[in-house]
Amino acid sequence: THQQRYYEIRAKKPLCMRKYHHVWENLPAKDADGRTVTYTVREATVPGYVGTVTEIGGITGFLSGGSKINRCGNYGSVSGGHASGSAGGIVGQIVGATTEKLNHMNEGDCLQDFAGPLGKATETEGLKKVAVVGGGVGCAIALPVAQKLHAEGCEVHSVIGFRSKDIVILEDEFRACSSKLKLMTDDGTYGEKGLVTDALDALVAEGNTYDEVITIGPLVMMKFVTMTAKKHNLPCTVSMNPIMVDGTGMCGGCRLTVGGETKFACVDGPDFDGYKVDFDEAISRGAIYKEFERHAYEEACNLFKKEVK
Ligand code: FES
Repeated sequence: THQQRYYEIRAKKPLCMRKYHHVWENLPAKDADGRTVTYTVREATVPGYVGTVTEIGGITGFLSGGSKINRCGNYGSVSGGHASGSAGGIVGQIVGATTEKLNHMNEGDCLQDFAGPLGKATETEGLKKVAVVGGGVGCAIALPVAQKLHAEGCEVHSVIGFRSKDIVILEDEFRACSSKLKLMTDDGTYGEKGLVTDALDALVAEGNTYDEVITIGPLVMMKFVTMTAKKHNLPCTVSMNPIMVDGTGMCGGCRLTVGGETKFACVDGPDFDGYKVDFDEAISRGAIYKEFERHAYEEACNLFKKEVK
């Protein structure tokens, strides 16, 4: 299963990563004004994650499995962030063949392609008080949204959720831009035990109300955050980033139904009105590629095992 693969990777990591200090540099990318920017991977965040990229010149990037590192690719599991003109970051979780390959890159290695910025920017204008709800690696995308809102004078309450303590990321960064931060873990090993929806319920019970709930994370989580927001009569924006593949509008992998209309998450989104998204359809579509992804991942792992010998 997905979870078994995840633990396998973490167990292997110390063997293959040693100190895990990567520098991927001079990767070609362009900012919103067409200027070429470069960036450097400095360090890993937590075990199981590919690493963080710092000093991006204001780029919202989406590094997908469709890049030349793996033309067949798996789903986009590396998330880009944008902090309006300042340093940005990229965080990836090892879930498949592409991220496994990224994880084996060494200091000085280069990626052939990096595409971005893609899609439409999150709309933050006029928002005065917002709950930002991130789950797992989705927090890498939720963070720059929270930072942008904070920079614009909005009161930000952040809720970030993880399976357990050892995969918590970006806590300090969220703390710095949020007037309230609730950190949840499924198993209670860090922060509060429970789901992000429990935290959202608790914030509302404390008397908070929000102009918007913005949520980014696994599809199932976003579905339930939307239901929770609806219960409290709060508008809810969801980022359909998890269903993207090439991020360029060509593969069709990110097709979804929003308010009865067909949309493409990478071109029309990734942000949509959560009330209108057909989550059940998106979740079942996401499962179509599971078997292919499993094969691709096993193939990549076997390749690396041979290289080690
Ligand atoms: Fe391929 Fe949108 S991710 S078309």
